[in-house]
Amino acid sequence: MKVFELFDIILGNGGIMLTNTVSHYGLVSIILHWITALAVFGLFGLGFWMVELSYYDSYYRAAPALHKSIGLTLALIILLRLFWRAYQLKPTPLISHSPMEQKAAVWVHGTLYLLMFITMLSGYFISTADNRAIEVFGLVTVPSMGAFLDNQEDLAGVIHKYLAYLMVAIATLHALAALKHHFFDKDKTLLRMLKPGKHWS
Ligand code: HEM
Repeated sequence: MKVFELFDIILGNGGIMLTNTVSHYGLVSIILHWITALAVFGLFGLGFWMVELSYYDSYYRAAPALHKSIGLTLALIILLRLFWRAYQLKPTPLISHSPMEQKAAVWVHGTLYLLMFITMLSGYFISTADNRAIEVFGLVTVPSMGAFLDNQEDLAGVIHKYLAYLMVAIATLHALAALKHHFFDKDKTLLRMLKPGKHWS
C-alpha cells in the first residue's frame, strides 16, 4: 500500500478519494490541477496587462510584485504537484481515446510541466538579475543568485515572454480538447478532472 492511501483510510472523507486510482483522479490531484490552471491563465493576463503600465500608473510597482508573488507560489505548488504525482497511480486513458490521442495527451502534459518550469525559472532570472531578492506577498524573501550573464535580464525576458505565449497556446488547445471530449465525444475525460473518485466507484 502506498503511504498516501493511508490518508484516504484515516480521513474517510465521506467516500471521496484523496488519492488517484487507475480509473479516477483523487481530490488532491484535481485541486492542484485547477489551482495551476487558474494561476497560469491569471499570471498570463496580469503579465500582459502590467507590461503596458506607465511609471505614473498606481499599479506600476504593485502589479509586478503580485505577478512575482503568485509565480513563486505557483512554483512551489508545481513542485508539490510533481511530488504528489510521483507517488500516485496514473488513471489509465479512456478506451475511447485513439492511440494517437493517448500519445498526444502524454506529450502535451509533459510539455506543459516543462514549459511551466522554464517559464517560472526565467521569470526568477529576470527579476533577480540586479541582485534584488523577491518578496513573496511580503511574507517570505526569496534571495537572488545574482547575474550569470551580462544581458541576463533581457535574455531571460525574451525566453519568459515567448514561452509564456507558447504555454498558454498549448494550454488553450489542451482545454479545447477536454471540451471536445465532453461535448462531442460525450466521454468522461473532463468529468474525471472535476469529480474525484469515490471509495465505492
Ligand atoms: C480551462 C482549462 C483546462 C481544462 C478544461 C483542463 C482539463 C484537463 C483534463 C480533463 C485533464 C485530464 C486529462 C486526462 O485524464 O487524460 C487535464 C490534465 C492535465 N492538465 Fe489540464 N486543463 C486546463 C488547464 C490546464 C493548464 C492551464 C495547465 C498547465 C499549464 C494544465 C495542465 C495539465 C496537466 C499537466 C495534466 C496532466 C495531469 C497529470 O496526470 O499529471 N491544464 N486537464
